[in-house]
Amino acid sequence: MSFIDNRRNADDPAAFKAAFGRFATGVSVVTCAPEGVEPIGVTINSLSSVSLDPALAMFCLDDRAVALAQFLRAGHFALNILAEEQADVSNRYAGDHVIPESDPTETWESGAPIFRNALSVADCILLDTYGGGDHVILLGRVVQVGYREDAGPLIYYGGSYGKLAP
Ligand SMILES: Cc1cc2nc3c(=O)[nH]c(=O)nc-3n(C[C@H](O)[C@H](O)[C@H](O)COP(=O)(O)O)c2cc1C
Repeated sequence: MSFIDNRRNADDPAAFKAAFGRFATGVSVVTCAPEGVEPIGVTINSLSSVSLDPALAMFCLDDRAVALAQFLRAGHFALNILAEEQADVSNRYAGDHVIPESDPTETWESGAPIFRNALSVADCILLDTYGGGDHVILLGRVVQVGYREDAGPLIYYGGSYGKLAP
């Protein structure tokens, strides 16, 4: 007997979201700083490491997102993986993409904004993009990484935030 009692066609967006929403993920703000415009950040959970040698990582961005053109123009991105106390940061960058001066950031090799209080960071040079239906897959060469050992991850599951049990 199967425990799976909600079997639906995948073209039902609510069912698609409910099924994939049961894949618990971390949360990241992906940032870039194209020349001549304000640096931006977008909350995403569609990131993955791709390859160790060479070091590659990817994320998916809605092809209608205003920010897409900025990432293509910048030619770089930083994946700022959020710590458990940063749900407010996730909510902020899901709505407003401009990085305020009050947010503590620095830049590393690629030039993309690095959040100083993130849990971990991957600084990337944009290598390629691929069509993925209504999203675009952005693949980057990871040039530098950094991480903290004194905090846990912000978790996203079923449309809500959580953290790991101690
Ligand atoms: C936890 C979380 C994860 C998200 N993941 C993605 C993602 O992987 N890709 C994406 O395009 N948008 C994702 N979004 C939505 C974006 O943050 C953002 O709201 C959306 O791109 C709207 O952009 P707009 O300002 O151009 O309308 C996520 C939002 C949240 C809260």
